[in-house]
Amino acid sequence: MTDTTFLRPLGGLDLDRAAALHCESFVPFGERGWTRQDMAELLGSPGVAGLLLQTDDADVGMAICRVAADESELITLAVRPARRRRGAGRRLLAAATDHVRAMGARTLFLEVAADNSAARALYESAGFRVSGRRPAYFRRGDRPPVDAFVMVLDLD
Ligand SMILES: CC(C)(COP(=O)(O)OP(=O)(O)OC[C@H]1O[C@@H](n2cnc3c(N)ncnc32)[C@H](O)[C@@H]1OP(=O)(O)O)[C@@H](O)C(=O)NCCC(=O)NCCS
Repeated sequence: MTDTTFLRPLGGLDLDRAAALHCESFVPFGERGWTRQDMAELLGSPGVAGLLLQTDDADVGMAICRVAADESELITLAVRPARRRRGAGRRLLAAATDHVRAMGARTLFLEVAADNSAARALYESAGFRVSGRRPAYFRRGDRPPVDAFVMVLDLD
């Protein structure tokens, strides 16, 4: 099948789309979905950049990262459920990594829920290693909180 997806920067006209992608991916975990206002504030923050993977008529996924001096952080990564396991997450992660490296970052950090086996497998296969653990980091409404693994990728 021909791959008709393409990557482009997330911009000010994409706030509703980005919020929808976030909600679709994280509300099922019991986490709070980000609003249009959250997205506006995030994408307007210093050093923050987003990438949208889409087709001509549908969004596939997004990645948002932040660069501060020679460190960077993957703030969020989300692929629509119907589009998963077809390489979109890996592609977005690679593009985000290329971006932060080009901006001068020497490390890329992220936090991933200890029970998120899909994301952990993706990050491990991309070369990230666990550098720490934050107890009860992810709040999930009525459900018990979940620890976060801090993972890091060396970009040198
Ligand atoms: C994590 C997520 C972004 C992966 O996106 P994706 O497009 O399905 O990932 P890919 O198809 O590129 O998969 C890349 C690799 O990740 C791993 N992986 C992805 N989904 C997996 C799953 N359900 N179970 C086990 N491994 C998985 C595999 O190693 C996979 O390689 P393979 O397909 O060659 O086996 C997606 O599941 C998602 O949006 N989840 C909800 C939001 C989320 O958890 N974001 C990360 C927060 S830190």
